[in-house]
Amino acid sequence: MKKVTHSFHSTILLFLVLLGACRTGQKSPGVGRSSGVYQYENEKKTAAPRRTGPYYSDRQAVTGKNGMVASAHPEASKVGVAILKAGGNAVDAAVAVQFALAVVYPGAGNIGGGGFMVYREKTGQAYTLDYREKGPEKAHKDMYLDSAKNVIPQLSLTGHLASGVPGSVDGMVEAHRRFGKLSWAQVLQPAIDLAEKGVALTEREALGLNRTKKSFLRVNPDKRYFMKADTTDWKTGEWLIQKDLGQTLRRIQEQGRAGFYEGETARLLAAEMQRGGGIITENDLKNYHAVWRDPLVGSFRDYKIITMPPTSSGGVALLQLLRLVEPYPLRKWGWNSDSTVQVMIEAERRVYADRAKFLGDPDFVKVPVEQLIDKAYLQTRWSDFTFARATDSRNVKGGMLPGYESLETTHFSVVDQEGNAVSITTTLNGGYGSRVVVNGAGFLMNNEMDDFSIKPGVPNMFGLIGNQANAVAPGKRMLSSMTPTIVEQDGKLYMVVGTPGGSTIITSVYQTILNVLEFGMSMQQSVNALKFHHQWLPDKTTFEEGAFSEETVRKLQSRGYMLEQLTNSLGRMDCILRRPDGSLEGASDPRADDTSVGY
Ligand code: DON
Repeated sequence: MKKVTHSFHSTILLFLVLLGACRTGQKSPGVGRSSGVYQYENEKKTAAPRRTGPYYSDRQAVTGKNGMVASAHPEASKVGVAILKAGGNAVDAAVAVQFALAVVYPGAGNIGGGGFMVYREKTGQAYTLDYREKGPEKAHKDMYLDSAKNVIPQLSLTGHLASGVPGSVDGMVEAHRRFGKLSWAQVLQPAIDLAEKGVALTEREALGLNRTKKSFLRVNPDKRYFMKADTTDWKTGEWLIQKDLGQTLRRIQEQGRAGFYEGETARLLAAEMQRGGGIITENDLKNYHAVWRDPLVGSFRDYKIITMPPTSSGGVALLQLLRLVEPYPLRKWGWNSDSTVQVMIEAERRVYADRAKFLGDPDFVKVPVEQLIDKAYLQTRWSDFTFARATDSRNVKGGMLPGYESLETTHFSVVDQEGNAVSITTTLNGGYGSRVVVNGAGFLMNNEMDDFSIKPGVPNMFGLIGNQANAVAPGKRMLSSMTPTIVEQDGKLYMVVGTPGGSTIITSVYQTILNVLEFGMSMQQSVNALKFHHQWLPDKTTFEEGAFSEETVRKLQSRGYMLEQLTNSLGRMDCILRRPDGSLEGASDPRADDTSVGY
């Protein structure tokens, strides 16, 4: 392979394009074929494998007896397994994978973004860590509106104002401080090696970088990060070497938290913000802290679901979805039969309406979590449902809760030899985040501010709307859909699941869990299975080609469902299932470069 030597740049893909309702005011597409709310821009449409039955591909699972890492990039999964083999536990491996992804998968892996971790110890004790980005001190509710209170297109998406204060490094420091076994230096070293020695670009990664080149150049006019010296296109197999990022990682390795939130890195980040008209200051960085939160725990039939509480909406929404469909005989109806799909869509419609009304940062707004997942409340949500006809989203509002006052992401899963399990979803938000690369430090900043509701009722890049519960405020975390989740069976670890995909994260996790628990699929089959999505507004169901039989399409359409076949895919799942014999099934998504490595 040809080795391209250049001090700046790196890999990858995963870039979201908004084709449905979006903040530029584009109208959502009508019935028929479309690319849906968003798509992965570097989707290889022509090379897509032939679909067989309900599956995207017939990819086979990876089996391991001792440990397993499933992530978006083979190099990152290898790093995780090397840490496990060196005696590290699941948290050590997860920390190493988070940093490795920041190097080999800059479209979504990050140190300039944030994420959520669900950790289940072998004893069954569970913890969650919220290392979501925060609004900077100078953020305010109308910061993305012009003087006439109209949204300024792109401001929350691209460039320096789009970033929240990054949380990933503090998250990893915290996770390691509390649960790590190996030294901090040891878990950082693989990422440093990958940055300094380089990594070969996959076809998908080269494509992603080439497609983002223009906006990199626009946002970072004086720099050449993430591109070749002569700015010609990357080719598959060329090497990315990221010396500045390597130096930043070394500072983090030597100084821990202070290596990012203080000193040289903080100075470089604040200077970058000043240069580009951003608002993050050294003070914002110094004040950032990840938060341990009580896990959100619920049940579905005999299974225990351990998932992420707010600031992510993912866990609440997932439990609502599962509990809403629990009374129905899905298994008898069959996978993606018209009745199964219908109740799943209707559950999604109602849950996303609740999300828009009630969910936000629990440190700022009262989020009625227990009420939202209460079975009696959920039962009331079915009151206007009939099998005869699709409910009209215009008539669906967030529910009435007694006593309530209104007031390119990536996922990886790790299981170690002892049975400790980590489920992490982490992101810059859109592919390559804000496109701003911190000059001298070589890492990309997130565009997570777009996950706030920048104006009530105006959809974000995923078509999601919100209100004051998720309004911009200094120090506040923007609402997320990330849904890292762990499922227990009979008190034992069963599945570790999660995916990127913006608003579709919740519904992909939901289907992946149901595919195993209700429809008898293996973990890999469930990941391979074709998926669909509804999010209340826009009022349509998007689906992967082949996800619905002709009969299901016909029946749903006759009941008034607006269906839209995607030209791209849904989900990039990276999951692990523990089989009855104790072996581990690593199931990575065939839709991208995702790879499981076990031993
Ligand atoms: O936190 C969220 O819900 C979004 N920022 C996630 C973005 C995402 O999944 C993009 N990747 N496909």
